[in-house]
Formats: sequence, C-alpha cells, structure tokens
Amino acid sequence: MIPSHVSIIMDGNGRWAKQRGKERFYGHIEGVESVRACVEAAVETGVKYLSIFAFSEENWGRPQDEVVSLMELMVKAMAAEMDSLDKNGVRFMVIGNREHLSDSLKSTIDSCMKRTASNTTLTLVVFLSYSGKWDILQAAKKLASDYAGDPEGLAAVSEADFSKYLSTASIPDPDLIIRTSGECRLSNYLLWQGAYSELLFVDTLWPDFKKEEFRKALESYSKRDRRYGKVK
Ligand code: IPE
Ligand code: IPE
Ligand code: MG
Repeated sequence: MIPSHVSIIMDGNGRWAKQRGKERFYGHIEGVESVRACVEAAVETGVKYLSIFAFSEENWGRPQDEVVSLMELMVKAMAAEMDSLDKNGVRFMVIGNREHLSDSLKSTIDSCMKRTASNTTLTLVVFLSYSGKWDILQAAKKLASDYAGDPEGLAAVSEADFSKYLSTASIPDPDLIIRTSGECRLSNYLLWQGAYSELLFVDTLWPDFKKEEFRKALESYSKRDRRYGKVK
C-alpha cells in the first residue's frame, strides 16, 4: 500500500550541525540533500504527492541571520534543482503566507511553479511561511466574505466546501505525516488536512533522512490499519 501523499516535517538540522561542531546553517545545507533524496525515492516508489514543511510562520521569530540565510538558501536551492525536477516530471508548488517573502523569493517561486505546472510524475509541495492556524483563519475570512448576507448558504457549507478555501485546495490530504528528530508534535502544521493522517515520528535527524529512511517510512505505513472511526 503506497501512500498517495507523504508529508514531512523536516526537523533536526540545527542539532545535526551542532553534533559536528558546526553552525546551524550547515545542517540546513545538508537538509537540501535529504530533500533531493526523498524526491527521488518518492518518484521511484510511485508516491504522487510529496510535501515538506520548510519554514513555519513561527520560524520568523528565529535570529535574523538564520532567517536571512534560510531564505537565501531557498532561492538558491530552487534555482539549482529546477532543471532536474522539471526533467524528472516533478510539478513544483509552494504554499504559505507570501506576505513576508522577499520579491526575489516570490519571483523565483512563481517562475519554478509556472515552468513545471504541467508535469505529472510527482507533485512536490513546499510549505513555506506556513502554519495550520493561519490557513484555517484565512479560509474562514474568505468564506465569511463570500457568504456575507447569505445565512442560508452559510448554513449549508460542508466540510468539503470549507476545504476549498484552504491554501491546499488543489492537493489531497496527507496519508502519512513524518516528523524527524524525535520531536512528537505537529508544530502548527496541517491541522485541518492532517485530521486522519497516519503519523510517524522517527529519531533520525533530517540531514540523515535519505532514501533508505524514506523507504522504511513507507514500509511502516503499509502496516497501518486506517479505520476512520469505523469497525472492520
Ligand atoms: C528544521 O531544523 C528546519 C527548520 C525548521 C527551518 P531546525 O532548524 O528546527 O533544527 P533543530 O530542531 O534546531 O535541530
Ligand atoms: C517545525 O520545526 C517547523 C519546520 C520543520 C519547518 P521547528 O523546529 O520550528 O518546531 P518546534 O520549535 O520544535 O516546535
Ligand atoms: Mg527544530
């Protein structure tokens, strides 16, 4: 049983670097290699959607130099990987609150998304400046404005209707959410969309999470019994 959508909370870059007596940023750089490995593994195993939590709304509160170098790394990595992603049929998407992103990052994102829009082998979604509560709130605001003066329409809004207002409207909910580095929390990730996701917490730090770890995660998923509250 191969999950259609695998989502990863990539955590532990800083600790990985610290263990080697290096700056935290060194861990973020090696983390990009793990993204590449997981994209390849996803293509090889037939996963259709791979999403990664790259930067949370809360992460803006980190020291300015780390934030700045992370944003620069995003631009660099996107530009460097785009040829090979496109060649391998990967559709690239970024989801999150664009308000605080630099113009250069926004234009890089837009050109990468446009260039790969018709690819169909794998959809790679980068959650950037994203938080689950932000997403639910922006959806609620849009919905409220669409239904202003229409109490009957509002009363008829279903969960499926509400989902269409989320920033993830065009992608399926994750079947499997993996978090690396031993932390067992969602840190404000896909709160609505992850309602029935299988959760997998592994001790491996993100820079050490490569193809073999990805395959092991799929193996663990294949043993899960998804009941959705029902009795089999
Ligand atoms: C994950 O690694 C990357 C981001 C959140 C941007 P961390 O930077 O959180 O690394 P640790 O958790 O401090 O080790
Ligand atoms: C979660 O990791 C966010 C991302 C992986 C992008 P953090 O390291 O920021 O989360 P906390 O602080 O452990 O909750
Ligand atoms: Mg962390």
